[in-house]
Amino acid sequence: KKFLEDAAVVANAPVTDTIWRLVCKAPQTAASALPGQFVNVLATGRRAFLRRPFGIAAADAGTGEVTVMYRLVGRGTADMAALRPGQDRISVEGPLGGGTFSIKPGKALLVGGGVGLAPLIFLAYKLDNPVVLIAGRTASETFWNEFFTAAAEKIYITTDDGSAGIRGFAAAAVPRILKENRIDRIAVCGPTAMMRTVAAAAAAAGIPCEVSMEKRMACGIGACLGCTFESGTDGKRYKVCADGPVFDSREVF
Ligand code: FES
Repeated sequence: KKFLEDAAVVANAPVTDTIWRLVCKAPQTAASALPGQFVNVLATGRRAFLRRPFGIAAADAGTGEVTVMYRLVGRGTADMAALRPGQDRISVEGPLGGGTFSIKPGKALLVGGGVGLAPLIFLAYKLDNPVVLIAGRTASETFWNEFFTAAAEKIYITTDDGSAGIRGFAAAAVPRILKENRIDRIAVCGPTAMMRTVAAAAAAAGIPCEVSMEKRMACGIGACLGCTFESGTDGKRYKVCADGPVFDSREVF
């Protein structure tokens, strides 16, 4: 079930130079959202603003608040950054997405890079002390750990340039993390290359892995077919918005 809510902006501020965090009051969405789902947001009254999908970073049924994190990339997100807390409203359509992260007993390893870490925050707080791997190109991209510390048992960091944590790509650190922790399953959200390589590392270790696919989504509800992709394994066509965004990695890579 999805809702269309006229939501007050409660907070909207930068976390870093390029990553912003927006909190809005969308109680129906907040009460029913599951980790991995997204909202389609329209900044009402702003010029040429299209509805855009954002992964849900937090949803609190008690306060009715929904949080998203976004990267400032162009006009649309610049308009979003101009929204004033306590004054502006946005139209929130959600929660969207048929494929969500599994919430099961056992130990999960969450692996994310960039703004892909946002939906993993929501997931982390629904799980029992997950292990988290935050991957960035450089130290300044690893600020995300502050959002995970209260939920995670352990946080690993990798950077491509070695300026923080373990040097190298996320997937290269996975075997070591699997050796140091008893991990039952892996969830990944980030650039496709990261998801592909982490999924391969999971498969090599015989551990189930879920990935959250990124595609430009126009309608968000399975109608425009703009987000379809062909599975690399079974050749079927899937819609990221309706069948996903979360898939078992074996359906995708
Ligand atoms: Fe339209 Fe997925 S975004 S079908």
